[in-house]
Amino acid sequence: MLARIVGTGMALPELVVSNDDLAKIMDTSDEWISERTGVRTRHLAVNEGTSSLAIEAAKKALDNAGVDAHELDLIIAATVTPDRLLPFLSGDIQAGLDAMQAAAFDMVVGCSGYLYAISVANAYVQSGMYKTILIVGAETLSRIMNWEDRSSCILFGDGAGATVIKADEVGVIRSVLGTDGKAGPALGCEARPLQNPYVHNEWDYPYVRMAGQEVYKFAVRTVPKCINEVLDAEGISADEIRYYVIHQANLRMIEAIAKRLGQPMDKFPTCIEETGNVSAASIPMVLDKINRTGKLKRGDKLVFAGFGAGLTWGASVLTW
Ligand code: UT7
Repeated sequence: MLARIVGTGMALPELVVSNDDLAKIMDTSDEWISERTGVRTRHLAVNEGTSSLAIEAAKKALDNAGVDAHELDLIIAATVTPDRLLPFLSGDIQAGLDAMQAAAFDMVVGCSGYLYAISVANAYVQSGMYKTILIVGAETLSRIMNWEDRSSCILFGDGAGATVIKADEVGVIRSVLGTDGKAGPALGCEARPLQNPYVHNEWDYPYVRMAGQEVYKFAVRTVPKCINEVLDAEGISADEIRYYVIHQANLRMIEAIAKRLGQPMDKFPTCIEETGNVSAASIPMVLDKINRTGKLKRGDKLVFAGFGAGLTWGASVLTW
C-alpha cells in the first residue's frame, strides 16, 4: 500500500501586509519586492499562533477528506516556529482535534519539512504500521525575522497547510531526500544560548540569517536535479506530470526551475504572491489552492519538490 492524499486544508492569519505597508516601516518598495521575489502580500500572525493555524488547517483537511479525527493513527507536524519548545506542535494538534488515539511527533527540517514528512508517512504506510496520517506544515516565521533586515524579512509570512493521507493502491511513488549540513550556515537561526550554573551567554542574534544569493543558486541547481532523479528512476517523463508543486520561496526561482526542466509555468501553481514564503506550509498550501479550485483529477501525476535550511532538499512523484 502507498500513501495517498485524500484531503487538503490551509489557514492564514487575518492580518494582510502589503509591500506598500512594509515600505512605510523600512527602506524598501513594492517595485523591488515584487520584481525580485514575486511577493505582493503576506499574512502575519497577531491573534493567531502556530498551533491555532495548524489546527484550523487540519480541521479543513479532515473535512475535505471526509475523515473523522478519531480515525487518525499518526499526526506529523513540520515546523521551525512552534509556539513553545515543549509540549510540541503535533501534541497541540492532537489535543485540538481530540484525536487522542493518534501518535504525534514534530519534524524540524525547515522549508523541506513537508517533503520529509510525506516520505516518512509513505514509509509507515508501506510498512503497514499506520493507515491514516495527518501531515501539517505550520509556521509563524514572523517571530524569528529581524524586521530591520530588509533583505530577509520581506520574503516570509505566516500560515499553515495540511493534508490527510490514507493507505491506498496508488499514492507516493518515489521520493528522494538530501541534506548538506556543511552548507547549513547559509540559512540559520540560533537556538537559545547555553545558560546553566556554569555558563552564562547572551542571545546575540535571535533571528534568521540568510545568504540570499547562495541559497538561490543552491536551489535552482539542486531542485531540477532531484526532480529528474525521481522521474528517471520511475521512467516517468517531465511532460507526463500535470503539476509541479514547488516550495514557494521566490517566484523567480520557480520560473528558473521550470525553465531548467523545460516545462511551462502553467504547470507550476503558486501562492507566494499572496502568502510570501511560509516554509514547511508552502507545499500543502499550494496543493490546497489547486485542489479547492477543482484543478486536480484523480490519477493525475504530481511532483512535489523543495529546499531549505539544513541545507536540505527533496522531491516526490505521486499519483493524485
Ligand atoms: O526557503 C528558502 C528561503 N530563502 C530563499 O529562498 C532565498 C533565496 N534568495 C532570494 O530570494 C534573493 O537572494 C533575495 C530576494 C533574498 C535577494 O535578492 P537579490 O537579487 O539576491 O538581492 P541582493 O541581496 O543581491 O541585493 C541587491 C540590492 C542591494 O543593494 P546594493 O548593494 O546593490 O546597493 C541590497 O541592499 O538590493 C538591496 N536590497 C533591497 N532593496 C530594497 C536588499 N533587500 C532590499 C529590499 N528593498 N527589501
